[in-house]
Amino acid sequence: MEKIVILTGAGISAESGMGTFRDKDGLWTQVRLEDVATPEGFARNPAMVQEFYNFRRVKAAEAKPNAAHVALARLQAHHAGEVVIVTQNVDALHEAGGAAGVIHMHGRLDSALCAGCGHRWHAPDTMAPDEACPACGGPFGRPDVVWFGEMPYRMGEIYDHLASADLFVSIGTSGEVYPAAGFVQEARANDIRTLELNLERSAGSRLFHETRLGPATEIVPAWVDELVRRN
Ligand code: OAD
Repeated sequence: MEKIVILTGAGISAESGMGTFRDKDGLWTQVRLEDVATPEGFARNPAMVQEFYNFRRVKAAEAKPNAAHVALARLQAHHAGEVVIVTQNVDALHEAGGAAGVIHMHGRLDSALCAGCGHRWHAPDTMAPDEACPACGGPFGRPDVVWFGEMPYRMGEIYDHLASADLFVSIGTSGEVYPAAGFVQEARANDIRTLELNLERSAGSRLFHETRLGPATEIVPAWVDELVRRN
């Protein structure tokens, strides 16, 4: 039975209104990544960083899953083999679309992390610059998202899935950020078939066996239909 590992990026949530990072109006054209997505930025200005994620948390909570999120959940339900979804996205739109067991390698906006004791809890809508940890009481609460210079979550598990997969599919990601950008090479080294679904060709596009271009809400359901019919 064919095991499928799917990597998703901001492009899959773009049509839900979440915005991307590196496109023309992307987030990193509006704010400096160094200010809001590094531990050093947080140390310099915790108020600004918390405010940035408070805004994104509210926006993510208001967003609705789109046809691409729903299609991947349908694939999980109807595919004979295992379908593992690994996302770089910090929204919960895969889960809202019905997907299970999603691996959030860059963390989640709806989770808070204590930088002092490592405790995690459900993030309130608004986190303060000195957000108190409910476990240790220290004022070290931060968004449970992975910043540049930090290690993404659950990497061992992800590489194990890539080692036992038959197909690797990358959806809506620019392939600019490692380690996720290196998954296609890992898949190729493991002799796995690779497919890219994206609006435009990503940085590592030539590494994929096949690329299909178009908006996620069109090309992802079409690809899922194909697979489900074959099952
Ligand atoms: P990017 O903004 O780098 O890339 C988004 C990709 O989605 C681009 O390749 C677009 O062509 C594509 N895209 C845009 N709209 C689309 C649509 N409607 N349908 C399909 N594809 C579409 O976002 P990511 O690759 O997710 O990390 O960025 C990776 C990481 O960089 C993020 O997780 C974040 C960011 O800095 C951290 O903050 C640690």
